[in-house]
Amino acid sequence: APVTAQGGTPPAGDDVIVLGEVGALTGGQATFGISTRNGIALAVKEANAAGGVKGKKLVVRVYDDQSKPEEAAQAVTRLITQDKVALILGEVASSSSLAMAEKAQAAGVPMITPSSTNPSVTEKGDNIFRVCFIDPFQGFVMAKFARENLKLNKVAVLQDNKSAYSIGLTEVFRQKFAEMGGKITATESYSQGDTDYRAQLTAIKKTQPEGIYVPGYYSEVGIIARQARELGLKVPLMGGDGWDSEKLFELGGSAIDGSYFSNHYSPDNPDERVKKFIADYKADNNGAVPDALAALGYDAARVAIEALKNAPDTSGPALRAAIAKTKDFPGVAGNITLDAKRNAVKSAVVLKVADGKSTYVTTISP
Ligand code: PHE
Repeated sequence: APVTAQGGTPPAGDDVIVLGEVGALTGGQATFGISTRNGIALAVKEANAAGGVKGKKLVVRVYDDQSKPEEAAQAVTRLITQDKVALILGEVASSSSLAMAEKAQAAGVPMITPSSTNPSVTEKGDNIFRVCFIDPFQGFVMAKFARENLKLNKVAVLQDNKSAYSIGLTEVFRQKFAEMGGKITATESYSQGDTDYRAQLTAIKKTQPEGIYVPGYYSEVGIIARQARELGLKVPLMGGDGWDSEKLFELGGSAIDGSYFSNHYSPDNPDERVKKFIADYKADNNGAVPDALAALGYDAARVAIEALKNAPDTSGPALRAAIAKTKDFPGVAGNITLDAKRNAVKSAVVLKVADGKSTYVTTISP
């Protein structure tokens, strides 16, 4: 199936600056792409209301990659060759961002991923940036929380072997947890889209872990939680940012209660800047509370807009240089300073899942 554009053809010509966006608007990661799109749309609306950039209005060309890396790669090629975008925002899933980064780097078009955390994404080249932390930190956060807060000694891991994100996070968590004196009792794998996890969970149960680290995406994690409970595995599940979706509660029901995951942002943050963002986002999205994807989409778009303002022109090299200078930028998911490797160094929050929602527990700094 071809990639599909959202929102029609943007007006071309000298009076607009066209930005590209690739996201999962359908498929197993659909809530990631939809939230991100809504966050980006809010930032662009605000910039246009304030007069646009360099006397021009901003428009965003959005393609749905259906949660597939191959489609994301195709979409980015289309944005570059047909739509001639100034820069690209996306993706969320690291495997999709990796496929896109290769093309954007080769074409010299800057790309900012709001939320892909696998280290290799920005290693694709000097045109590729991110406004979030990376997984060596995120894996450390949950290992530390498991050891120090939950006081767990023995933990099993269940990874998604189709996801660069999940594989990377598994590796870091295993290493950090062991370094902190914990024992990994088992490491089992599944493939994105699987629906039966009983064999892996049964193998895990035999090793009698006190917790299970499941660094996957919400579509699979919700089902895994239910099947774990059915098999009598009552220990807490732990995960990463990939759990962040309203759908997790729908799929997991009460089976997901008492679990924890690391994330970029919590809407419980009393900061005025965050409160204003939440109110504005709700007003535009039928009262929906923005998740981390929405917050990071908003932040990525604002970093891009700031660079468009600061760069002498909107060519790839000028934009790349302007983005690289991002320093102490006030994001709603934390301040953003890009390091020499084009990554943001930020703290993480740990959230507890209970009664159909996630609640703030603690913040862990690098
Ligand atoms: N960090 C995930 C990845 O790299 C994507 C993600 C970010 C998912 C934030 C949910 C929230 O694949």
